Amino acid sequence: MAKLGVNVDHVATVRQARRTNEPDPVWAAALAQLGGADGITIHLREDRRHIQDRDLRLLRETVTVKLNLEMACSDEIVRIACQTRPDQATLVPERREEITTEGGLDVVGQQDRVAEVVRRLQDAGIVVSLFLDPDARQIEAAKAVGADAVELHTGQYALAPPGPKREEELRVLAAAARQVRQLGLVLHAGHGLTYTNVQPVARLEGLEELNIGHSIIARAIMVGLVEAVREMKSLVS
Ligand code: PXP
Repeated sequence: MAKLGVNVDHVATVRQARRTNEPDPVWAAALAQLGGADGITIHLREDRRHIQDRDLRLLRETVTVKLNLEMACSDEIVRIACQTRPDQATLVPERREEITTEGGLDVVGQQDRVAEVVRRLQDAGIVVSLFLDPDARQIEAAKAVGADAVELHTGQYALAPPGPKREEELRVLAAAARQVRQLGLVLHAGHGLTYTNVQPVARLEGLEELNIGHSIIARAIMVGLVEAVREMKSLVS
């Protein structure tokens, strides 16, 4: 049964819209845990558009489940991660003009750099996952750079309309998932998942972790965060 990591970035997005102190992602993380979250995920972006350094520090102190830090391969963020020591780091590509993380990390094109970052994080005691498109060459490269886990990017699946196109994207994910497990890597997935499209992904064999943000926070505005997490958790399991 896959574990549910709840991404609370969007709580910080609302706060940063007014540069004030509410709503607080630290409070949100506590409520998500009450709703059954197995992990809390945050992305400390180089432009600090939502999560701030203070959030990472306080979440490191207060989160009692797995703390997963999404991050780019930037020296500044690697340094912060090694000092703060989240339980897990998920390396993602980052472009300032994007609304959210768009594609998977290109490991093939920067293998030496990714290998160095993986090593630095692991030396600090952090488990390292790489956020990848379901692409065989990228998954091979994840093994070569010594990553512990791969988070398969489910964005294309989530964008596909229900029907044959979505079925095809699911087959692509299933093949990539098999490859990840055959290489001895831990299997995660996430991005664009919702209450209506999550279940086929949650059923992928060997899946250990799903990371979901936008859909849960969107529902939380209507029903409250504890309830929103509880509903997602029951779908995932
Ligand atoms: N996984 C990764 C690596 C991400 O970058 C994101 C978005 O921050 C998510 C999962 C969650 O995506 P969503 O907000 O669409 O659920």
